[in-house]
Amino acid sequence: MDKIEIDGGIRLNGEVNISGAKNAALPVMAASILCPGDHRVTNLPGLRDIYTMGKLLGHLGINFQFDGDEATFNSDNITSIEAPYDFVKTMRASILVLGPLLARTGEAKVSLPGGCAIGARPVNFHTMGLAKMGAEITLEEGYIHARAKKLKGARIYFDMPSVTGTENLMMAAVLAEGTTILENAACEPEIIDLADALVTMGADISGAGTNNITINGVRELRPLNHQVIPDRIETGTFMIAAGITGGDITINRCIPAHSEALIRKTVETGMEISVERGRIRVKGAGTIMPVDIKTMPHPGFPTDMQAQFMTLMTLSNGTSLITENIFENRFMHVAELKRMGADIRIEGSTATVSGIKKLTGAPVMATDLRASASLILAGLAAEGTTVIERVYHLDRGYEKIEAKLQKMGARIRRIV
Ligand code: EPU
Repeated sequence: MDKIEIDGGIRLNGEVNISGAKNAALPVMAASILCPGDHRVTNLPGLRDIYTMGKLLGHLGINFQFDGDEATFNSDNITSIEAPYDFVKTMRASILVLGPLLARTGEAKVSLPGGCAIGARPVNFHTMGLAKMGAEITLEEGYIHARAKKLKGARIYFDMPSVTGTENLMMAAVLAEGTTILENAACEPEIIDLADALVTMGADISGAGTNNITINGVRELRPLNHQVIPDRIETGTFMIAAGITGGDITINRCIPAHSEALIRKTVETGMEISVERGRIRVKGAGTIMPVDIKTMPHPGFPTDMQAQFMTLMTLSNGTSLITENIFENRFMHVAELKRMGADIRIEGSTATVSGIKKLTGAPVMATDLRASASLILAGLAAEGTTVIERVYHLDRGYEKIEAKLQKMGARIRRIV
């Protein structure tokens, strides 16, 4: 299994280009199930999850071709209505085919995802919403089996905003009979991107990006032609990389408005941030000030940046409180950061981080995607050498991260 080795202590300097957003690309790819024809998606990141989604679509009968950051695919024939466990266990986002498959074919069987390293992550909102739209839902041998001759518009309330739940129901509703209203829906930029893609297909959607989304069902759709938005979590991870190394970098091809909460918080830490159209310049401060964060649904502080921000706080000159409100077990990086000398105590959903003068390189283990990113950041700042194992987690969400960091001066290499 690949490892990543980092000799820490180098200030990053230079420029980096942001790739397309994994969490926007995955639902957009799933939207190709909705209607026959030749679809095209651009600005796709070269990531394991993207290829997994491609293979899953291939399994459903969709003919897929990747060419650099573009993919074209033909979905004239859906030959299977089943997303098998083998796909779902490697990528939970496979659940995103449930809504569009049901809308297109009247039936879908998707393996129920189990829990994962960061929490139990149930999908009851997805199934509850489809049931409200008239689907008959049964659980058979670990599979969600959904059937509906024709979905019907409904008023659906989310107990808490769910990103993929909102996306799944939005895709199911575009071909339903009548109007669907999603209340307390998620309003992440990835939801807006999917809605934009669906609207170019001929869907009638308003309110995406707010907590109330209205979808008027249409009779038919035309194929996709969509450019995926830049990845705000990759953007944020590089912002912290500049901050934690006291560097000075320019992050190109991003959408600063998507990183508003993080920008506010990093400015509080003393980092200097200047924003222009499509780019963010980040300068690290001599002293990192302690700042508290609480993760919240968008536009609050993103849970996908919690681990990276915590790593920055391990080197602050005071004490900060990091509260995780979205997932119940998203502190797996803490034990690894402690191996590098960090002073962190966890009580319930809050971690108290007491800043120290320096982190020390150590062998550590990646446990999930964003935890891996936090260890890379720790390694960049640490004195000595850090070896990160199980980097396959990282490869699910960060395109060419070593090359991008090397270009800015980091001494980082992959050991295969
Ligand atoms: N929830 C339920 N029932 C449901 C769905 C969600 O109780 O049916 C709960 C979850 O347990 C969680 C909260 O609602 O406590 C929010 O979860 P959400 O459904 O929004 O998460 P998700 O859609 O499974 C997406 C991203 C995650 C990101 C979260 C939160 C994709 C493919 N995944 O997951 O991304 O952390 O939203 O923003 O979009 C990552 O990229 O590293 C990642 C984990």
